[in-house]
Parts: sequence; C-alpha cells; structure tokens
Amino acid sequence: MTLVSEPASRRADTSAPLIGALVDRWSPRAFDPAAVIDPDVLRTVLEAARWAPSANNSQPWRFVVARRGTSAFTAAHDAMAGFNQVWADSAAALVINIAEIADADGNPHPWARYDLGQAVAHLTVQAQHEGLHTHQMGGFDAAKLHEVFALAPNLEIVSITTIGVVGDANALPEVLREREVAPRLRKPLEELVLLGE
Ligand SMILES: Cc1cc2nc3c(=O)[nH]c(=O)nc-3n(C[C@H](O)[C@H](O)[C@H](O)COP(=O)(O)O)c2cc1C
Repeated sequence: MTLVSEPASRRADTSAPLIGALVDRWSPRAFDPAAVIDPDVLRTVLEAARWAPSANNSQPWRFVVARRGTSAFTAAHDAMAGFNQVWADSAAALVINIAEIADADGNPHPWARYDLGQAVAHLTVQAQHEGLHTHQMGGFDAAKLHEVFALAPNLEIVSITTIGVVGDANALPEVLREREVAPRLRKPLEELVLLGE
C-alpha cells in the first residue's frame, strides 16, 4: 500500500469546530490501485451504516459490497458513466447503496431514500475514521445494475460509494487532476439556515 500525503487544502475550512473525521473527509478520485481493505475494517464501516437512525427503525438500506477484481465490481463498473469509469476502478471496494422502497406486501417506505442517505453518511464518516476515503456517485445506470444483480422490484439502487486509500493525483487524467486539487467550497451557513438565529 502506497501512502500519499494529502494536501492540507483538502481539509474543510469550517466556520465552527468539527470532529476530525468530518474535517478530514473529502471525496478523492485518485485511489491507490494496489490498496486492499482489511475485511474487519470493511465490516466496521458497514456496521456504522447499520446503526444509523431510520423512520420507525425500518432500516430500509441494503448493500452490495464489491471488492476490486470481483465480478460484482466489474458489473458496477460497466454500469457507470464514462466519467466515473475513468477513476473508480482504483477504489479498493464499491458499496452499491440500495433503498427498500416498499415492504414485501407493497406498502411504501416513504423515508427509504432519506434513511439510506443517513446510513451512507455514517459509513463515510466511519471509513474516514478508519483512515479510508469514500467517493459517492450517482452517475451510473441504476436500471441496468438492478437487472444484472437480479434485485427484487421493491429495491432501488440509489448510489454507489467507492472506498479506498487515497492515491496519487498525478495518476489522474489532466481534467480530473485539476478537480482533485481545486478549492473545496461550501455555501455560508447563514445561507443554509432560513429562519432563526
Ligand atoms: C448523491 C451523490 C452523487 C454523486 N455523484 C457523483 C458522480 O457521479 N461522480 C463524481 O465524480 N462525484 C459524484 N459525487 C461527489 C460529489 O461531487 C462531491 O461529494 C461534492 O463535490 C463535494 O465534494 P466533497 O465530498 O469532497 O466534499 C456525488 C456525491 C453524492 C452525495
């Protein structure tokens, strides 16, 4: 595993103090193509997702976990948009994030995608705590992947999370390399809070 030091500019420039994993989390596209995630660590990040809150404790999240080199990883790669295929292959693993949008009787889970998002957020923060990085993506053909994985109709693939060890930005194509080092920007908190102090 090659350890590449990260530029300090990747850290969030926060307007109030945050816990380390949130300050340090960012979404790289350069992953170390040789890095392998320890099975216990992979289990730990999924356990973090498991303990997310959900509406009525319905836990409507499901995951397909695909390590680099597996047929599931290749299937996910094949469903990705070209601009994601360029970089995602170096990730050590992909987690395909799936919302159970209805129960077996067809009763809808209206909060399923919201709950899934929270579970994925937990996963990303735990991964960061474990010294890994994550990069989520929506740029892929979810219908195609749903068919390949032969998922039930009440399951909806929402996103994919790449997980791995940060790699060398110089290995990326020029346009992605520029994005990899571009300043990380956020709207001011004052713009996000609509009412109240
Ligand atoms: C739902 C979702 C979909 C995303 N889709 C893509 C994608 O298809 N390709 C990509 O390179 N990044 C994708 N991203 C990553 C975002 O662009 C990234 O999180 C955002 O620019 C903020 O950067 P940061 O995570 O480094 O703070 C996605 C992120 C989320 C949460």
